[in-house]
Amino acid sequence: MSTSGIVYRPRRLRTTPRMRRLVAEHRLHPADLVLPLFVKEGIDAPVPISSMPGQVQHTEATLHDAVAAAARAGVGGVMLFGIPAVRDALGTQAAAADGILQRGTRIAREAVAAVEAEIGRPGPVVMVDTCLDEFTDHGHCGVLDSDGTVDNDATLERYAAMAVAQAKAGADVVSPSGMMDGQVAMIRDALDDAGFESVSILAYSAKYASAFYGPFREAVDSALLGDRRTYQMDAANAREGLREADLDIAEGADMVMVKPAGSFLDVLRGVADRSDVPVAAYQVSGEYAMIEAAAANGWIDRKAAVLESVLGIKRAGADVILTYWALEIAEWLD
Ligand code: PBG
Repeated sequence: MSTSGIVYRPRRLRTTPRMRRLVAEHRLHPADLVLPLFVKEGIDAPVPISSMPGQVQHTEATLHDAVAAAARAGVGGVMLFGIPAVRDALGTQAAAADGILQRGTRIAREAVAAVEAEIGRPGPVVMVDTCLDEFTDHGHCGVLDSDGTVDNDATLERYAAMAVAQAKAGADVVSPSGMMDGQVAMIRDALDDAGFESVSILAYSAKYASAFYGPFREAVDSALLGDRRTYQMDAANAREGLREADLDIAEGADMVMVKPAGSFLDVLRGVADRSDVPVAAYQVSGEYAMIEAAAANGWIDRKAAVLESVLGIKRAGADVILTYWALEIAEWLD
């Protein structure tokens, strides 16, 4: 032993940028990132989302451009949300062949194909949100029964029709996010019966009733009064999140998700440790808004905070990360 008496000096591996780069246990890659995008029916210019600075409700034309930009930057996927011009109690437009989300899906597929042909490498996987909340006039994720609660089994029929419509429009991945029991099995059956056995299901498995969805409500012009606590999970429960993931895998989910990411990193780690399918995590609108707001005030270093927040999600076990910064991070990493 030296005169100092210190045997182990972990600081040696932190001495230089090149040393830190070599020994980094985790690193972000554009292919791991999924960019959520909003497309709104009946607008002729993009509409900024005030609580999500830098994000917009796209027109069909600007959706095309946004997907193309994601493709050029090497982003791994896009996740599409649609805002219809007309809503009703059943969310009929969700499964309409020419509904805004189906139109957006076709546009996204075209944009991906065009950029792939141009640059000769794979573009983003086209993922589509499979949920009724943007399409119902009451804003809930399902259809309501006579006393106003969301009717699980009646909603499953609507999800099945929606998933098939999305697959017909060219979705690579459908993404049930409504937290109805049995939704993955129902959608798998419907897709297989319709000949779409190659379309994947990304299950929002452990989706919590979260205050951090606040800005998303503006992003989709949400009609919701009240909350989603009878179907989304209680933030108090971690074990139940693991159970939800297990059930979705047993029902045939190709990938599972924990959402939000930031306040549920323990659940993400737990799911990652037991899952034998890829695990996604969604850094949601409120997580985005908090960092943007603090950075706009000069209270934190924006780029460093963005990268640290996303790397933390990766470190907690996410294979795939949905983040509104996906395009920007991919460009930084380039
Ligand atoms: C439901 C859905 C929501 C989000 C994604 N899918 C809203 C909700 O459950 O209330 C929130 C995403 C975010 O906040 O970024 N279709």
